[in-house]
Amino acid sequence: MIIDSLRQEHRNIEKLLLVLERELSVFDREERPDYQVIHAIIAYFLVYPHCYHHPQEDMIFEKLRERDPAAAETIGDLPAEHWSCAKRLWRVAQAVESVLSDLEVPRHAVHDIVRDFIEHERRHIAMEERDFFPAAVEALERQEWAEIASRLTNRKNPLFSETVEERFDAVRRHILEMEEEAEAERPAISGATLAAARAFCRSASPIVRLEVPSCLKP
Ligand SMILES: [Fe+2]
Ligand SMILES: [Fe+2]
Repeated sequence: MIIDSLRQEHRNIEKLLLVLERELSVFDREERPDYQVIHAIIAYFLVYPHCYHHPQEDMIFEKLRERDPAAAETIGDLPAEHWSCAKRLWRVAQAVESVLSDLEVPRHAVHDIVRDFIEHERRHIAMEERDFFPAAVEALERQEWAEIASRLTNRKNPLFSETVEERFDAVRRHILEMEEEAEAERPAISGATLAAARAFCRSASPIVRLEVPSCLKP
């Protein structure tokens, strides 16, 4: 069913949001995040939700408006909300480019933009799962779901095909692998914490003969 596949896509999107959040915490520690991973996530979000996921939801919402205008009213303007997601993503892309171009952008401003995007995406997904999807399942008839499914498969847009879906899966897997590699290369704790821990061990040594653990040795 279309809703099941949209729910699965939400789980996939959540995984990428977690990766982005992890990279943001690296940035917040004033270390260098993996910009290849960040660029791949931005590129994914630019294409996948905007061109693929949101249009499907917009079609369902259109049907819900016809079937149950009161339920649609409580959800609000879903297509406008999708545009707001796209605008927030665009701000993330610009903020990242500013950092990489050494433009004077306060770190907290970059943090706020990325955090706002992550939180907004999560709220949006939560709202759809809590309000929108159940309302659509309740209101739409079998024949309307079939109509939406056929509109999706009949679209000339090559984005709506199984092959493209498989490509998106591959891209997502690739991003998660890149992140695993980036995590493996990072120290378990930040450079600043590491330096403080080493200094503590050295200063405490004369009193309690504290050995510097091997994981803290340079
Ligand atoms: Fe949505
Ligand atoms: Fe969604």
